[in-house]
Amino acid sequence: MKRRKFIQNASLSGIGIAVGSTLANCKPKEESNGENPVAFSSDVTKYPLVIATWNVPESTAKAWEVIDEGSSALDAIEQGCMVEEANEKGQSVGIGGLPDRDGKVTLDACIMNKEGNYGAVVCMQNIVHPISVARKVMEDTPHVILAGKGAEQFAVSVGFKREDLLTEASRKAWEEWKVKSEYKPIINIENHDTIGMLAIDKNGDISGGCTTSGLAYKMAGRVGDSPIIGSGLFIDNEIGGATATGLGEEVLKTVGSFLIVELMRQGRTPQQACEEAIGRIIKKSPNYNDFQVGYIAVNKDGETGMYSIHEHFSATVYQNGENTNIKSDFYNKS
Ligand code: GLY
Repeated sequence: MKRRKFIQNASLSGIGIAVGSTLANCKPKEESNGENPVAFSSDVTKYPLVIATWNVPESTAKAWEVIDEGSSALDAIEQGCMVEEANEKGQSVGIGGLPDRDGKVTLDACIMNKEGNYGAVVCMQNIVHPISVARKVMEDTPHVILAGKGAEQFAVSVGFKREDLLTEASRKAWEEWKVKSEYKPIINIENHDTIGMLAIDKNGDISGGCTTSGLAYKMAGRVGDSPIIGSGLFIDNEIGGATATGLGEEVLKTVGSFLIVELMRQGRTPQQACEEAIGRIIKKSPNYNDFQVGYIAVNKDGETGMYSIHEHFSATVYQNGENTNIKSDFYNKS
């Protein structure tokens, strides 16, 4: 485990006052002049570390607990993501996810380990934990992606139980949506959407996962960025990792998570890389007012970054024993 006495966390300083609550956990060595990051004198360690999109303290706490017990970042990712997948109240991940326009809940997830191996399931029904099935695809098959019925059959063959994922609340929301059947991607869900998670374990090894029910009331068969390597998630254990939330079509077109990791390889901080990846979307899509995308990233040193198109994106960071929700800086200030 790396220990540093004085830390200048360029990524967190890059997101300005929004990180006040996290930095409050550390003792400032000197006052900031408003331009330069403050140096912190403390026993702060940069990893182990867990970071996840949105305000999901129970998920990050579970992942942290797994790492703290000495298990791998990969185990932490799986178990951390499972918490949200099992949460019926979350309508964008796992059981309780909002259905497609035909009333079917279809789930997408992927996982990536420190060796750069990857597994995913897309458009899978009736299984609560797609992140675990994705891991099984990665570890127990010669393939990387299984889709639809095939993914479900595989899951059942390795011991997962079929369950109805459409809760009463989500069925009711779908019935209400059907009255007008307006297909309009929601610009932002303030506390929750796709859960992307990155973790560094005590050995400094990085893994990541991403799990979602995708766009509410999507066309049958639609798959977003979340289960697609390089778009919803990318890990390179030599460099770092990135993951995305928001309108998957935009992330797919810019291969956002791979882009962020490659930018970090070229020397950008996680914060700079997230900002540049959002910039690529802005440049390509003049209608960016109509949708939200948010990225989080971590580098090998345990520095983090996050950035979104619009306000109200946040991430939960578990580092140094503190589990903190941090508001992200964003592009659209107008
Ligand atoms: N980012 C999730 C999706 O678009 O499906």
